[in-house]
Amino acid sequence: MDEIRTIRAREVLDSRGKPTVEVELVCASGAWGRSIVPSGASTGKWEAVERRDRGTLRYDGDGVQQAICGIRDEIAPELVGRDVFAQRQIDQAMIALDGTDQKARLGGNALLGVSLATATAAAASQGVPLYEYFAQCLTEHAMPASDAVGQAGAADEHSPAMPVPMTNMISGGLHAGGNLDFQDVLVVPAGAADYATGLEWIVRIYRRLGNLLQAAGYEGRLVGDEGGYGPRLPDNRTAVEFVVRAIEAAGLVPGRDVTIALDVAATHFHDGDHYRLAAEADARLTRSQMVDRLEAWVNQFPIASIEDGLAEEDWGGWQELTQRLGDRVQVVGDDLFTTNPDRVRRGIELGAANSVLIKVNQIGTLTETLETIAVARNAGYTLVVSARSGETEDTAIADLAVGVAAEQIKIGSIVRSERLAKYNQLLRIAERLNSGGH
Ligand code: PGA
Ligand code: ZN
Repeated sequence: MDEIRTIRAREVLDSRGKPTVEVELVCASGAWGRSIVPSGASTGKWEAVERRDRGTLRYDGDGVQQAICGIRDEIAPELVGRDVFAQRQIDQAMIALDGTDQKARLGGNALLGVSLATATAAAASQGVPLYEYFAQCLTEHAMPASDAVGQAGAADEHSPAMPVPMTNMISGGLHAGGNLDFQDVLVVPAGAADYATGLEWIVRIYRRLGNLLQAAGYEGRLVGDEGGYGPRLPDNRTAVEFVVRAIEAAGLVPGRDVTIALDVAATHFHDGDHYRLAAEADARLTRSQMVDRLEAWVNQFPIASIEDGLAEEDWGGWQELTQRLGDRVQVVGDDLFTTNPDRVRRGIELGAANSVLIKVNQIGTLTETLETIAVARNAGYTLVVSARSGETEDTAIADLAVGVAAEQIKIGSIVRSERLAKYNQLLRIAERLNSGGH
């Protein structure tokens, strides 16, 4: 037991210079935690709603002073005096206080800041690393609800483990001024013996890619929101070809050492009926043609993972994609699931994916994030813990990925310090785990 004494919130800026919520929470013991909330650009329709000061000139209406007031006037009075270790009750109290389906009243940004500051303070109070506290929370979370399948090997399942990075190389879509339809071409150093080796491979590939782009007359220095290059390439396929060549130029073997991942973010070029590829003479593809396209790419390139290959409401398309490619590639739902346990349950029932992207601010509390993770795990889904395109120096998601033993972590490219904050935190954690340390 360690009582929450004060909860203080303030407005700070994220990596796009946009206001966001920072929360500091202090316990009776003096232990404390801080959290800064990230923000997406290519957001899903079912995400928790960010509360912003719309209709004002100040920060063009993006300020979060109302969200801060909500924390000060409503959330803090409800939570001060509670045990910092009662994460589930704290999150449930905030959800009840908000009272809406998508946290629109108090704001998902307000709830998440408090939720993660609580966990960070609890870890400090217990004197354990944050990743270990997350692992404990997941074990507790999975226990009462789990069925026979879930219980088998539960102790192993919830011990910390390093994820493999899934790192942005070329950015398009809403992250780089619409130069390409597809949002990200990424690499995964699947064959690296350990995290540090994989990170060095990624940096090497990134540098080779910059040189290759420049040598071919494209922008090999300009980067998008997540640090990936944002060249004006003629089409989506050329982006994948450049990344494959960069892997080879780094002295690595595509498909063996390093695989390719795509975040298609197809929701954002779906017009309700068709998938419209502006970079391909404005081709209009049906869902089956879109799956044909992805299948042809999987046949031609060493692609191991496809995120949001179809739009967030195209459940039938997702079923077709999973039937046709699910045994060959990881089919990841981002906008499709929005880290929402009910949407993941629906996906499992329909056979609509085999992996879920985990973004804490899509759902807005740690407890619901852990529920989504437990549901996905029980169905054999893989996990990809992900940052947002608007990020900060907060490193909690690096600890989350390790704590829940996610297969992969997707935190953008290896330039820009809001990204490196996480990569570097993972280096620290890897060192600790290697030395057998807790
Ligand atoms: P977002 O993009 O943070 O802008 O939503 C990340 C992603 O789509 O994975
Ligand atoms: Zn995505």
